[in-house]
Amino acid sequence: MALLKSNKVFLCLGNITPSLGVLSARNSSWWGGVQMGPPDPILGVTEAFKRDTNPKKMNLGVGAYRDDQGKPFVLSCVRKAEALIAAKQLDKEYLPIGGLGDFTKACAQLALGADNEVLKSGRNITVQTISGTGSLRIGANFLSRFHGGPGDVYLPKPSWGNHTPIFRDAGMQLKAYRYYDPSTCGFDFSGALEDISKIPEQSVILLHACAHNPTGVDPRPEQWKEISDIVKKRNLLVFFDMAYQGFASGDIDRDAWAVRYFIEQGHNILLSQSFAKNMGLYGERVGGFTVVCKDNEEAKRVESQLKILIRPIYSNPPMNGARIATTILNTPDLRSLWLEEVHGMANRIIKMREQLVAGLKKHGSSHNWQHVIDQIGMFCFTGLKPEQVERLTKEFSVYMTKDGRISMAGVSSGNVGYLAEAIHAVSK
Ligand SMILES: Cc1ncc(COP(=O)(O)O)c(C=O)c1O
Repeated sequence: MALLKSNKVFLCLGNITPSLGVLSARNSSWWGGVQMGPPDPILGVTEAFKRDTNPKKMNLGVGAYRDDQGKPFVLSCVRKAEALIAAKQLDKEYLPIGGLGDFTKACAQLALGADNEVLKSGRNITVQTISGTGSLRIGANFLSRFHGGPGDVYLPKPSWGNHTPIFRDAGMQLKAYRYYDPSTCGFDFSGALEDISKIPEQSVILLHACAHNPTGVDPRPEQWKEISDIVKKRNLLVFFDMAYQGFASGDIDRDAWAVRYFIEQGHNILLSQSFAKNMGLYGERVGGFTVVCKDNEEAKRVESQLKILIRPIYSNPPMNGARIATTILNTPDLRSLWLEEVHGMANRIIKMREQLVAGLKKHGSSHNWQHVIDQIGMFCFTGLKPEQVERLTKEFSVYMTKDGRISMAGVSSGNVGYLAEAIHAVSK
């Protein structure tokens, strides 16, 4: 085969001897012009962490939940669902292009609430996607192909690092609206309203439904109401990214409040969902993409185009994780266990925030660290400067992204004291 390939190349190279041709083909390259790209900013942190031999090292870069022993956590409801599925000896035929029907139904109900008018009138289309990233990308491709607006998508500043390449690679232009106020380590409400009020009509605005990544700063309900009003005035198309439902407050309904409120207010939103964090199904890649339409007839047309879009990308989604999520959502005992476990994960993180601040005070830190407690969800935007982050890594083997974000999920009773000591040392 290799020889055949070489001969083919030789023929293309033309007027040289066979042996030279084989040699040139081996030495020449199709990819000589490909430049070395930078490592992924988050996964690069994990690689550096792995190389470190300090026994006290901490990886606070990647957003994956750990238990209080610092170990990856598989939820008991997931283990039980897996056993139920295994006992059924199900086949492994392809799923439909839009995924497992029972999953997409349960997924939309989880986000919108089972008695939502949108679901009753069948004016949504929900497809199963390759976790949240796949959902956002299908959404971005759909927008790029069908949204008649200006082709701009407005992201909060800052936003999850992958939002920019997802939308850019789908051919959209990235713009930003103010979101985070470094002076308070909190929400820049007036800045956000001012910027949103200037967004050209019919543009797309991306909103994090809860547990904003990377800042951990969410608008309060009364602030969401004002955002909804202004978005409506500007006639913007809202794309909600909900990657942490349940993870912010521990309550899945409370965390979906903004999404449901916007729908109630008449916004026909796009919605991305991920089950990576709230069910701990990271590597199973389970997610959903929903378009809320004007009516059922429009939803059917949108569905047909989503299928046309998905088919040449991955044909149809993987089934294992979707079966696990569906079994949990549709089996009352497992669903209650899941809700308890989500609550447990969120609470452990809240406790770590409090212990971290208590530790900083104990070490005599004079800074106001209240934002560490006020922020919500998996991440904490510490407010540490890049040079302080660098010292944390170099002197204390604490690994995190340069923007000062730490994953609270990687903090445990065993290392929170060390982290407080380290942060105090670089910030005093
Ligand atoms: C804001 C946000 N959206 C989407 C995702 C997508 O994650 P996944 O593709 O693992 O579901 C993440 C993961 O970190 C995220 O933080």
